[in-house]
Amino acid sequence: MVPPSSGWGIPRQGAEGDYMKQLIYNIGQLATPQGSAAHCGPDQADIKYYKDAWIAVADDGTIAAVGEGEVPEEYRHADSSIDAGGRLVTPGLVDAHTHLIFGGWREHELALKLKGVAYLDILAQGGGILSTVRNTRAASEEELADKAAEALDMMLEMGTTTCEAKSGYGLSTEHELKQLRAIKSLQGRHPVELVPTFLGAHAVPEEYKENREEYIRILCEEMIPRVAEEGLAEFCDVFCETGVFTADESRTILEAGRKYGLAPKIHADEINPIGGTELTAEIGAVSAEHLIVATDEGIEAMHRGGTVACCLPATSFYLNASFARARDMVNAGVPVAIATDFNPGSCPNLSLQFAMNLGCYKYRLTPEEVLTAVTLNAAAAIKRADSIGSIEPGKKADLVIWKADNLDFILYRFGNNLAGTVIKAGDIVVSR
Ligand code: NIG
Ligand code: FE
Repeated sequence: MVPPSSGWGIPRQGAEGDYMKQLIYNIGQLATPQGSAAHCGPDQADIKYYKDAWIAVADDGTIAAVGEGEVPEEYRHADSSIDAGGRLVTPGLVDAHTHLIFGGWREHELALKLKGVAYLDILAQGGGILSTVRNTRAASEEELADKAAEALDMMLEMGTTTCEAKSGYGLSTEHELKQLRAIKSLQGRHPVELVPTFLGAHAVPEEYKENREEYIRILCEEMIPRVAEEGLAEFCDVFCETGVFTADESRTILEAGRKYGLAPKIHADEINPIGGTELTAEIGAVSAEHLIVATDEGIEAMHRGGTVACCLPATSFYLNASFARARDMVNAGVPVAIATDFNPGSCPNLSLQFAMNLGCYKYRLTPEEVLTAVTLNAAAAIKRADSIGSIEPGKKADLVIWKADNLDFILYRFGNNLAGTVIKAGDIVVSR
């Protein structure tokens, strides 16, 4: 495609509206889901393709127009322009499930894993999540934020432009608030947009091991009100699992969260099926996460509740566990999202591209279904489907120009970072 001939490099004159902030042209293939709500069933594969495309970005960083062929006169005048080199462009990737904020790492657990010690046994012995709790409590808010910023740099390089971030390694009012404040401090400091989730119910801390009811009381009556009062989280999440929180306890905690305006999410059916997914319709869960061993009843509950199934295939990979029945979920009309679950224990991986590969190879989803899973459906899982997750007028210009010519290529290659130029709200934030 021939670059637009007029307006380039000429300083703005006249009214603001005459100029675009950015024009991306010479896009060989543009692939995007469309709409402002999660896509389910056959619609999960409904990707709109444009050939020889362009995107005009308005001053406020939102998409003004998208089209094929010649750029119309009204969109030709832009402060800057990007030649996409005939390559693939998709929406920026949305990572809808991460445990971004933590102290230390847990590489010593690898040897235990290789000896066959189970994830929940490590936790029961005071390791696992509880060892990260000790490291997180020992760290300052600034240290936690700086460490997370390093992870966010890597995510951005790999095409992630929005990321949900959970607390859950503080497990006391002071340290949960510290984690959430660290997340808040990164907003505006880092280009990746963060969506905060309160996960005080990630484990019962050692000091309440013999008095879990008291910890649940503190969660519901102290932590949740403080988190809401300070506006530190949008969602409340619970790890519903054997030896962690039961389905009844999860209901109590999520209802308390809802009372304070925190929308419910639930870690359900990761290791043992103890009824977490079955709760989703009743508690109005926005998303249910993991779902490795979800039952038919659980899938039916998500369908009834309009819950997004947030599947985390890199965790299955790392735990050497089975893979969630994402194919059955799509077929049952449940919108499926795919996220990394980045955390120091069950998934020390932050590449959403790797999770996408596994979505194809292990869930047997098509490249189109996977693209929806990491863009529009992931955006719906964090209640952002009206502003991100697709390339359409009015949405934020969060985009990836790939080192690839078509969508199939990025699912076919694996183990490499294929993101080229990453654009956040119309600005180039990564160029490689
Ligand atoms: O999503 N399942 C619970 N939480 C994390 C693991 C956290 C950890 O091991 O530190 C997960 O897998
Ligand atoms: Fe998780």
